[in-house]
Amino acid sequence: MSDGATARGSATEREEARKIAEGMEHLSGFGNEHSSEAVPGALPVGRNSPQRAPLGLYAEQLSGSAFTEPRAVNRRSWLYRIRPSAAHPAFTRTGNGALRSAPFTQTVPDPNRLRWNPLPEPAEGTDFLAGLWTLGGNGDVTQRTGMAVHLYHANASMRRVFSDADGELLIVPERGGLLLRTEFGLLHLEPGHIALIPRGVRFRVELLDETARGYVCENYGAPFRLPDLGPIGANGLANARDFRAPVAAYEDVEGPVEVVNKFCGTLWAATYDHSPLDVVAWHGNHVPYAYDLRRFNVMGTISYDHPDPSIFTVLTSPSDTPGLAGVDFVVFAPRWLVGEDTFRPPYFHRNVMSEYMGLIEGAYDAKTAGEGGFVPGGGSLHNMMSAHGPDRETFDRASAAELKPQKIDDGLAFMFETRWPVSLTPQAARAEHLQQGYDDVWQGLERHFRPLH
Ligand SMILES: [Fe+2]
Repeated sequence: MSDGATARGSATEREEARKIAEGMEHLSGFGNEHSSEAVPGALPVGRNSPQRAPLGLYAEQLSGSAFTEPRAVNRRSWLYRIRPSAAHPAFTRTGNGALRSAPFTQTVPDPNRLRWNPLPEPAEGTDFLAGLWTLGGNGDVTQRTGMAVHLYHANASMRRVFSDADGELLIVPERGGLLLRTEFGLLHLEPGHIALIPRGVRFRVELLDETARGYVCENYGAPFRLPDLGPIGANGLANARDFRAPVAAYEDVEGPVEVVNKFCGTLWAATYDHSPLDVVAWHGNHVPYAYDLRRFNVMGTISYDHPDPSIFTVLTSPSDTPGLAGVDFVVFAPRWLVGEDTFRPPYFHRNVMSEYMGLIEGAYDAKTAGEGGFVPGGGSLHNMMSAHGPDRETFDRASAAELKPQKIDDGLAFMFETRWPVSLTPQAARAEHLQQGYDDVWQGLERHFRPLH
């Protein structure tokens, strides 16, 4: 289908986008060799790059891994498009807004436990790209290591197209539905869903509600994959079949389209004479995905103790050391707690990994909810070795609770957990919405030690 470039701003336009979002088909299965054509006959058969591609299209490969990486982790897709991506004018530097990249060297890494309220309201006409605000991160974009934590707050649909050469984008909406128009087709996201946009894939974000707010993990390292399941077996956690990939959908648009490219930390823009979302057919295993976190198959104890939160890993970006992730994406989804003689909320701990936590809805079971606490749209950072765990109120309550089976069903929290400490941007370190006195939640944890002799 050709869906054209709809304008994006008014209530009617949002309604139109929502109609498209709710009516569309998708392919399913993380890591599959998908194929899709918006026009019958657009995909070549039996070869990737025939002398003349069908329907006068250009064939183009998009790599997600080096050509020679092992087959199990090799990613690439073939795109059949109206014009090759190479047909574009020079890019020139454009403003970065509040978007920053690693290395994050402008502040001294902070061992303190930190927590932020949601981002303030954006100025009128702020689109997803302009609404990106970087909290911090680690690694180095030029070394393809590490990650960045961004938040976004937008009130306008993008008219421009964005691509990120620096990393893969994991988008976690907290407020407002989104229609993602990508080179591969369309994805529909609501709060509680996530999207993965591979490195370099061009896309536009249209709003389905008046405002949109959420989180983004920019993964500079190896692409996210499903974690190994080990003794869990062949099923469980995030099941591959629940990941949605788009079906091919293209824009046949002539005329000026602004395309913004993030490259080694800075934004570059060029005005194309056509839409680069002009892929009529494609096949491959390197594609955008959406996933509903409520489909996560939560595992936990049925005897005693609280398993480590690695049991809640949705996706992992491995590093060169087995088991030591560049970044894990972890979800705290609705679940039953049944452990006997067990302190049921997350335990006190000091972690060699660094944890950024966000809240999509409701409350998190280690923290008291409410104003000035851990609220939807806010976030907390517990850097490596920082001591944290349940707040005093939660500790007191859980230590005295009757241990009957209990359903945790009023919250959806997540964590970006990374092997390197997270350094802050100056804007995050000095933000007005940085909470003062977060340490106080652990004040008043009383001394209960009573030696017998
Ligand atoms: Fe933690």
